[in-house]
Amino acid sequence: MEQVKEQKIVWITGASSGIGLSLTKRYLAAGWRVFASARSQGELTPLLIEHTDLTFLPFDVSKPLQVEALRETLLEHTDHIDCAVLNAGNCEYLDMTEDSPDWNMMDRIMSVNFFGLVNSVDVCLPLLKRSSHPHLVGVSSQAVQAAFTQAEAYGASKAAARYFLSSLRVDLKPFNIDVTCLLPGFVDTPLTQKNTFPMPFLMSADEAAKRMFAAIESRPFEYAFPKRLSAVLWVGRHFPKLWLRLMTPKSE
Ligand SMILES: NC(=O)c1ccc[n+]([C@@H]2O[C@H](COP(=O)([O-])OP(=O)(O)OC[C@H]3O[C@@H](n4cnc5c(N)ncnc54)[C@H](OP(=O)(O)O)[C@@H]3O)[C@@H](O)[C@H]2O)c1
Repeated sequence: MEQVKEQKIVWITGASSGIGLSLTKRYLAAGWRVFASARSQGELTPLLIEHTDLTFLPFDVSKPLQVEALRETLLEHTDHIDCAVLNAGNCEYLDMTEDSPDWNMMDRIMSVNFFGLVNSVDVCLPLLKRSSHPHLVGVSSQAVQAAFTQAEAYGASKAAARYFLSSLRVDLKPFNIDVTCLLPGFVDTPLTQKNTFPMPFLMSADEAAKRMFAAIESRPFEYAFPKRLSAVLWVGRHFPKLWLRLMTPKSE
């Protein structure tokens, strides 16, 4: 008798626009049951009408007080999740030419990109532990590979996220939970559309999601893309004086 294949379940944060939205579409197309979170539905609205396999669960990742309530809500829908793609994030640039740089930005960005990731792991870990083949995926950035100008807040938050995930990889091994850290390069989304500097090898959110979805399937420790940007940043890391010259803002 033919065995019925059980539908796999994914929880995606930051699903209302950009990369998270494109990933949501990929998982739906591949037949997954998708729980999608963000603070607001945003561009998910038409998908929610089209797909019964998609459920929106509002969550502000920076609010630890929402963690338990969201876990309870998830548990009302499912007894486990197979994959969590923790993608919610934000970007702001610190301006050191200002007399009083906006140091509060460090807190704002860390609370979403780092503590938001921690809060999201807190939500989903008990549900992942109930899966037969669980996978935890976090989204860092290629920005961690070499220092970018004005990225004191964003880069630090993504470096913290990367280390957090690498340490979790060790400690979740006994629970058979695989941990993957994704490091995208420049992707054309609302997050980068406000950038005024050149973004080499910029790709669409759909192209990024295609690559990320394929990479997630093979459960690498890390996946940095596109490789051409990784190569440039490798040079930046290994030739720091050259990188400093290239990165230093030109004075008027
Ligand atoms: N675009 C790039 O070039 C690039 C490169 C490397 C890494 N990344 C990373 O990829 C991830 C997705 O970015 P994106 O480019 O797709 O940006 P985006 O289009 O601006 O999407 C960001 C998503 O995160 C959600 N979000 C923001 N703050 C949140 C909060 N406090 N709580 C819950 N959700 C929140 C947003 O929804 P709401 O506003 O409705 O909450 C939205 O769904 C981020 O972690 C980003 O750092 C992006």
